[in-house]
Amino acid sequence: MKQIFLMIAALLPAMALASEDTRQFVKMSPEARAELRIEMLDFQTSLHLIIGALSEQKFAEAADIAEKQMGISAMGRHRTAPANARPGMFMPNEMHAIARGMHVSASDFAKTAKGGDTAKALTTLQAVTGACVTCHRSYRTQ
Ligand code: HEC
Repeated sequence: MKQIFLMIAALLPAMALASEDTRQFVKMSPEARAELRIEMLDFQTSLHLIIGALSEQKFAEAADIAEKQMGISAMGRHRTAPANARPGMFMPNEMHAIARGMHVSASDFAKTAKGGDTAKALTTLQAVTGACVTCHRSYRTQ
């Protein structure tokens, strides 16, 4: 959590130069990018549903969505795809580490959310959104 926050803080100076794109370009096959986009849209929907569940204090539901859709349980969904359609094959190590960190954070959130404390749950959820932000602000595919 702290680590992700520090990574984002380190990226803040880049925000001042909005017109200059300093993100690292990662070349991916069109197939891998298409797979990635489907996964990303699912993450965004899951996040939306998790926040909704939290706002209604449905902690078990929030935990369930997080673990199944974004957590460690959701890792390796491209495993059976042809190699050129697996986004992970194209990711530099650090980018891949952010991706793995996101899955681990989502599982952490799921465990914490089950405890029924909204503030604690939100703190761990921010580690998840932190991974989205860190990856998007560090890498581009076009
Ligand atoms: C490891 C890096 C990484 C992480 C972590 C990550 N993303 Fe992405 N995301 C990408 C890349 C790369 C693209 C661009 C894919 C492309 O079009 O080539 C993208 C694209 C997207 C898009 C646009 C999809 C479209 O239709 O074009 C959404 C929405 C998105 N991400 C949401 C999220 C959310 C929400 C999270 C966190 C829960 C997240 N992403 C975490 C790398 C990441």
